[in-house]
Amino acid sequence: MIARTEEDFNGLKEIGKICGAIRDELVQKTQPGITTKELDDLAGKLFEQAGAQSAPKQIYDFPGFTCISVNEEVAHGIPSDRVIAEGDLVNIDVSGSKNGYFADTGLSFVVGHGNAALKMICDVAKEAFEAGLEKAMPDAKTSALGNAVHNVAKQNGLTVIKNLTGHGIGRSIHEKPDHIFNFFSKWDDVVLEEGMVIAFEPFISTLEEEVFQSDDGWTFLTDESYVAQYEHTIIITSEGPVVTTA
Ligand code: CO
Ligand code: CO
Repeated sequence: MIARTEEDFNGLKEIGKICGAIRDELVQKTQPGITTKELDDLAGKLFEQAGAQSAPKQIYDFPGFTCISVNEEVAHGIPSDRVIAEGDLVNIDVSGSKNGYFADTGLSFVVGHGNAALKMICDVAKEAFEAGLEKAMPDAKTSALGNAVHNVAKQNGLTVIKNLTGHGIGRSIHEKPDHIFNFFSKWDDVVLEEGMVIAFEPFISTLEEEVFQSDDGWTFLTDESYVAQYEHTIIITSEGPVVTTA
């Protein structure tokens, strides 16, 4: 969407704050021994307390309030009886709506004392996000963000996932622009506008550049890589991007 009014900005910031708080609470509760379903049940309660709805459940009938992905799972992991262990690479992705406005945020992290290489891809995903955020100004092309992400990955000897992307958001969870890629493509030439709302989410990989879909119809998996994501919802403005989910 294009945010034009104060009501738009306030509505986007309200749901952004709610999703950011749920994300942070779930990250804090992710300890060895807890199941991903237990974490997701907590998210369900927090959405209800905030008077907000889970976007994946509401829009896609996803079997969970949030997407929680562990190790070989990269995105859209279904909350289950899977028990979190020390050293796991976990991604928590929270998206929701309130009063018709949407937000989407996620991050990957290592539980407890994990392997340094896994911690590194999480740090690089955040760094790639920050590099792209600097390019997120009116009149820039979406490909400028992808280019920034890919450069940060390459500088760190890592790759990007080419078939998972950021997206427009605002009045629904997925809107125009349909894709914000993690690499430069000359076809990726949507021009960012004042007030445009996007979910920007670099995916950084240790090896492979594509994920594949599990037989469950939801989860995206890798074979031989570890992948980290870092995502916020942002509003493009000439004074600089407004991160609603900080
Ligand atoms: Co997300
Ligand atoms: Co997203």
